[in-house]
Amino acid sequence: MNSPDIVNQQIAEHYDRTQYTSNAFFYSSPGHLRATAHLYGVETVPVEKARVLELGCAAGGNLLPLVLAYPEAQAIGVDLSTVQIQQGQKIVQDLGIKNLDLRAMSLTDIGKDFGQFDYIIVHGVFSWVPPEVREAIVRICRENLSPKGLAYVSYNTYPGWKAGDIVRDAMLLHSHSATNDEEKLASAKAMLTLLSDGLAASNPLASALRGAVGQVQKQSDYYVAHEYLEAFNSPCYFLEFADAAQQAGLAYVGDAESHSELSATYGQNVQLNHSLIALGQPKVMRQQYLDLAIGRNFRKSMLVQQEREAEIAISPDLGRLRDLRWAGFFTRGESPQGAPVGHHTYTNHKGGPLNTTEVRVIAVANALSQAWPVAVSFNDLVSHVQAQGVLAGDSSDVEKAVQEALDTLFKLNQLRFSLDAGPYANSQSTAPQLIPGLAYLIQQNKDSASGVGRFSLWHDGINIQLKEAESFLLPHINGKNTENQLRALLRDVLHDGKVPATDGKMLTGQRNLDAKALLMVSKLLDFLNRQGALLA
Ligand SMILES: C[S@@+](CC[C@H](N)C(=O)[O-])C[C@H]1O[C@@H](n2cnc3c(N)ncnc32)[C@H](O)[C@@H]1O
Repeated sequence: MNSPDIVNQQIAEHYDRTQYTSNAFFYSSPGHLRATAHLYGVETVPVEKARVLELGCAAGGNLLPLVLAYPEAQAIGVDLSTVQIQQGQKIVQDLGIKNLDLRAMSLTDIGKDFGQFDYIIVHGVFSWVPPEVREAIVRICRENLSPKGLAYVSYNTYPGWKAGDIVRDAMLLHSHSATNDEEKLASAKAMLTLLSDGLAASNPLASALRGAVGQVQKQSDYYVAHEYLEAFNSPCYFLEFADAAQQAGLAYVGDAESHSELSATYGQNVQLNHSLIALGQPKVMRQQYLDLAIGRNFRKSMLVQQEREAEIAISPDLGRLRDLRWAGFFTRGESPQGAPVGHHTYTNHKGGPLNTTEVRVIAVANALSQAWPVAVSFNDLVSHVQAQGVLAGDSSDVEKAVQEALDTLFKLNQLRFSLDAGPYANSQSTAPQLIPGLAYLIQQNKDSASGVGRFSLWHDGINIQLKEAESFLLPHINGKNTENQLRALLRDVLHDGKVPATDGKMLTGQRNLDAKALLMVSKLLDFLNRQGALLA
């Protein structure tokens, strides 16, 4: 075996032993990438029938929402770790999925004959592999990308990772003599105390190091083992990545979270100073300057064939936001004490906050919440907002207000969006129905580790912890039972003492349980709906 093969084998063995939970990431989903590329003026292939390749796909958790939402799309996922691929293959087989092919192999063995793909996704791989694998990634993005194809590669970046490098070096140093993975992780984590509580007040890097340690402490063990203790973790400056892509015959489009490429996102000070220093500079240099200003530590870069360079806008064209369809869900909460009149506090579908006093933002948030998880076109959104009657002026005033509200919510990263109808559009269901595959995955994760996280069709990770009564209901949320029928089913099992109520109390033999059962059903359905777990 030559040395790259030995390194690959070591990487594979590490992932086989300490598996990664294979999650979905909304920003790397083809639907999101297509919509974002549109903002940069780049035309791509509709997702519905697209051919998609993911390199380093682990157990395929980032491809499952795609293939389940779009049965006519075709996807191939490749990973070095046989254990992870086998976990994914079991799910594919159990769910009867016909359009996902998961293969245990090294991506370095992919050649031109592997086929052409409209989307190539490489998430969380580039920084963690040896140089020859990094070269293969950009080569594949060139050779195997269809003429209108879009590639996505994410990677760790400087300057944000400089402090992370020190933390990683220290963790590796303290764990170098460990004899197994558990010992290695424990010693590595022990080092974090020195780099947080034990830092001298005079340490010039103290605050950056504390920040980097805080990042590690937030993560689960399997993530720390791979992110910090893998043999390779090679962050780079954005310019170095863009250069490697250019050498391979690719052109840089923009970041998959394109609001993060706008200096205005980071406040007036950044915007003003950035515009002065970046004046007249090429696109990639402007972005490198921005990374220096904001200390960026991770990028999610979209690439196309170099021949298309002239098509690409220098920054996302916010005028094009009105071409997209929008989705969002906001639950109203209590405004903090002393908040100004008209202040609204919301929690978005991911549990993040939205605080606003802008009537137009409130109107758009309310209109989107009613349609969630379905994506609404700009014109429909204008009609819904107009129907609320809260914005003054004629229809062109309302249009302008909706555009401005979308602009605000987009920059705050509060919404999901797509160029086409979106992943929930084709639902025929009138009774509550779980999205495909979810009931199975919830059951799997309970019985044994399936290696795959749960997801919505927007490719968001979802967190569902169910009580016994709710687990009972789950298989019945299948599009065949109305809310009333679900209530009757639950009432009967509560009455018969087969499951406790959601507060843990047994209600055996009690009468008049309808109201209680209905409350439990509607709470569960609200919760599932917020997560995007229900077809509309
Ligand atoms: C950090 S994990 C990321 C997994 C997944 N993409 C995600 O973001 O959750 C890196 C993955 O790349 C895989 N990998 C590393 N080298 C590879 C190679 N040469 N060919 C294919 N997969 C590789 C590993 O087995 C591992 O599953």
